[in-house]
Amino acid sequence: MANYEKPDSWSLRARKEAYPARSVYKLKEMDEKFRLIPPLGRAFRALDLGAAPGSWSLYTLRKLSGGRGGKAGIAEDSFLAAADLSPLSRQYDRGLFDRENFCFVRGDIRTEETRNALLSRGPYRLVMSDAAPATMGNRQIDTLRSLELAEAVLRYGEEGLERGGSMVLKVFQGGDTAGLLKKIRELFETARSFKPAACRRESFETYYLGLGRR
Ligand SMILES: C[S@@+](CC[C@H](N)C(=O)[O-])C[C@H]1O[C@@H](n2cnc3c(N)ncnc32)[C@H](O)[C@@H]1O
Repeated sequence: MANYEKPDSWSLRARKEAYPARSVYKLKEMDEKFRLIPPLGRAFRALDLGAAPGSWSLYTLRKLSGGRGGKAGIAEDSFLAAADLSPLSRQYDRGLFDRENFCFVRGDIRTEETRNALLSRGPYRLVMSDAAPATMGNRQIDTLRSLELAEAVLRYGEEGLERGGSMVLKVFQGGDTAGLLKKIRELFETARSFKPAACRRESFETYYLGLGRR
């Protein structure tokens, strides 16, 4: 995607391509660069944390089903679990969120209850998280809360990923992200940060990836 696009062009594109949020293009770019989600037909289990309104889940299910509605169907043993405090938007899913290959847990990803519900459906090949706290405008507090979420996500990566699996998580820059990156390095063959083009210019969010769970 060219850099000259205005930030709101991502939202217009999302609407045109029937996604509830522009954030889908962040995942798309990371998927294309790091090959996170396999093409149609290959069995795959993934976990989407902080999933609402549902663009990342929709992108994954569409890719696994070979298109928008999925005439070809999702491989029988492929599965996507998603969780969020808020419900998913049903505006564009065309029944994909009703498929047996998908389950949504409404809850706080930091709690034992939600963790148990999600981990019992694993192990996963990919744990991805776009979870972010509702920002308060106080960078120090926002960053701390984001880091707390990132640490919770890392635990899913630690306990819920199969060997060789990958993890993507969002974090606000500014806190002890060096400590987070160090832990990712310990758990994965490759650890790196990446800021997709669709991130708003003024945003201090970035993504950390762990590739190849040891
Ligand atoms: C940027 S949105 C995710 C957008 C989503 N990836 C998409 O493409 O539609 C961040 C989400 O993180 C969720 N979130 C924040 N804290 C959470 C928590 N503790 N547990 C579960 N979800 C949380 C919010 O409710 C919000 O829906």
